[in-house]
Amino acid sequence: MSFDDLHKANEQQLTSTVDQLVKEFEVTPEKLDELVAYFIEQMEKGLAPQDTDDKSTNKGLPMIPSYVTGTPNGTEKGTLLAADLGGTNFRTCSVTLNGDHTFSMEQMKSKIPDELLEPTGVTSEMLFSYLARRTQLFMKKFYESDMQAGKEFKLGFTFSYPVDQTSLNSGTLIRWTKGFQIADTVGADIVQLFQGELDKLGMQNVKIVALTNDTVGTFLSHYYCSDNTDSMTTGEISEPVIGCIFGTGTNGCYKEEISKITKVPQATRDKWAEEGKTHMVINTEWGSFDNDLKHLPTTKYDIDIDQKFSSNPGFHLFEKRVSGMFMGEILRNVLVDLHSRGLIFNQYRTTAQLPHRLQTPFELDSEVLSHIEIDDSTGLRETELSLLQSLRLPTSPTERREIQRLVRAISRRSAYLSSVPLAAIIIKTGTLEMRYHGEVEIGCDGSVVEYYPGFRSMIRHALALGPLGAEGERKTHIKIAKDGSGVGSALCALVA
Ligand code: BGC
Repeated sequence: MSFDDLHKANEQQLTSTVDQLVKEFEVTPEKLDELVAYFIEQMEKGLAPQDTDDKSTNKGLPMIPSYVTGTPNGTEKGTLLAADLGGTNFRTCSVTLNGDHTFSMEQMKSKIPDELLEPTGVTSEMLFSYLARRTQLFMKKFYESDMQAGKEFKLGFTFSYPVDQTSLNSGTLIRWTKGFQIADTVGADIVQLFQGELDKLGMQNVKIVALTNDTVGTFLSHYYCSDNTDSMTTGEISEPVIGCIFGTGTNGCYKEEISKITKVPQATRDKWAEEGKTHMVINTEWGSFDNDLKHLPTTKYDIDIDQKFSSNPGFHLFEKRVSGMFMGEILRNVLVDLHSRGLIFNQYRTTAQLPHRLQTPFELDSEVLSHIEIDDSTGLRETELSLLQSLRLPTSPTERREIQRLVRAISRRSAYLSSVPLAAIIIKTGTLEMRYHGEVEIGCDGSVVEYYPGFRSMIRHALALGPLGAEGERKTHIKIAKDGSGVGSALCALVA
């Protein structure tokens, strides 16, 4: 055998292994049907009171009542503060709602310091005093004289983690996701922690009046901004039905009939009914869908990432197959595995010799995948540069071709799975059947849905392949609700 033949045989082995992996990442139409049906079941289970005889740990989806019972119509007016702790950044903003579906915004954004994401040694006080100091800086920059004059400000706090909401402005952290690991925050009231640190800085006149999940904020802001909810003026009969995030993490909320949220005690539901409330926005926390792995497609990489590298093993398993925080990590795990099997990057003899960044969990950003996804340059030169720059990893043209196939398989699985909760909520709420020519709008925010090339179109493709079918897909509009969470929490603060 010549050297050439030997190299060809190696390349063929890599290609056939990648063929196999691409197959493992496939989500078939039958799988979509199965997942949507199970998602609906899990939503219903999560809305019902817990069955005390049921010994299984599966309580269904969290389905958290948000205490938001109304929706804006775009005529709301006022200037309110909003703070937003998300997966990567903290933002303080002041939002001016102009009352005509439009708004303006001043904001200050900072990347969450790495020290606060350390696995140990970080306390709630450290995190929330950081948030308070950033808020103080913002107030100094934009509202110094008002602050000195003692003017009161209402602040809506978007906190994008699972919270057991106890009222519009209180709730306790169920668990951290997206990297934080601060033990003493779990079980504590988030508003008290933040307000306490604001007070310590002498900012008692900034009052946190609403606590919202980012999906709820996105939903409300989509309502506020959308001016075609009234068919009389536009001819369009479309209804916002879901607010969701596909970014560092993933989650969604929707409007549910209060009578169906049977886990809320009857007396409370009666009281809400007396107040004229009929619906409440439910934060599904769909990142936690199928933590028992009864139906989710699972590769050995998914298991390794959850068990060895993630900060919350056993939880948020849907998110770990879908969201931006994990897409790059899946690719990294596949590449390290292919290397250990002698199929790729053979210039490095051992795993320890691989570029350090390729060995580092969560170092490979989904942004790099987005460049590789659409690279059509000769010899995949863009991919070459992108991998060199991000991981210091040199690659051969054959390796790059196979990496691109892997990237596309990972992102397609992510987008196809993303269609599952959307189809499930549309079917469960029956929104498409409510009106003749009725169409639905989904308000989305998050880096993946906004910037990942082709992501929305792949979601739509999966919607058509799944139980909604082509007809349902045609009536479903995926809209970007830009800055959704900030505007949404301002809207919550307005009515608090
Ligand atoms: C959190 C959700 C949040 C989502 C999107 C998830 O990790 O559990 O509360 O809405 O990320 O930011």
